[in-house]
Amino acid sequence: MSWFRRPVKPKSPKLDADLLRRIRSEFDRSSADEEHFPSSIDPRIYHVRLILDHLGDLNGRRVGDIGCGKGRFARVLAGHNPGAWIVGIDLSAAMLGWVKPPLAACMATMTALPLAGGSLDAVYATESLEHAVEIDAAVSEMCRVLKPGGRLVIIDKNVGHWGRFRTPDWEKWFRREELEELLRRHCRTVRSRYISYWEDVEPDGLFLAWMAEK
Ligand SMILES: C[S@@+](CC[C@H](N)C(=O)[O-])C[C@H]1O[C@@H](n2cnc3c(N)ncnc32)[C@H](O)[C@@H]1O
Repeated sequence: MSWFRRPVKPKSPKLDADLLRRIRSEFDRSSADEEHFPSSIDPRIYHVRLILDHLGDLNGRRVGDIGCGKGRFARVLAGHNPGAWIVGIDLSAAMLGWVKPPLAACMATMTALPLAGGSLDAVYATESLEHAVEIDAAVSEMCRVLKPGGRLVIIDKNVGHWGRFRTPDWEKWFRREELEELLRRHCRTVRSRYISYWEDVEPDGLFLAWMAEK
């Protein structure tokens, strides 16, 4: 008998039908919690400003807010870009109940977006990728629906701060290089940086923003 054991590759978690149902019903319930899942956002918050800056002028363009929740980011974007077509995509019907015209709403999982390849000019996801479970699939989908030259922003949490809040068992936070690597499989340029809510406040390392161009 050999003492040598081949290393076992850890299995990637799967977003099966049961887990999908559990996540959906958790967020359906959370939609009533306006304190922790607010329907509006102060447009001065740096997360919003960074998305507006990186995506640029969106008038006449098609934009996807992936895991949009109540659509708080999408409403600010629409205010700045009245000529943009913006679709909010989310798993939870109750969250989408807050997403009203001129925004379009679509119930779907970000791991299988019901959009044609290359159909969007811009895509962003704020604190939603952390719930996608199949992270590779979600990143691939966001990049697939983006046109060549299209721009993408992901804002999410740094795994170095894991434990700071209570999190559901499916949630995952990220290493900066981990998402950079995934995005580089699909995008021409990729960069990332730590951000805080306010531009003049030094980031404490919790939030990361990844910016890419396909
Ligand atoms: C923390 S909330 C963030 C919502 C919004 N992006 C914001 O910043 O206000 C996470 C959202 O992701 C959605 N979500 C979770 N898993 C998803 C999936 N697989 N596909 C699409 N949306 C998902 C949830 O329903 C929820 O609305």
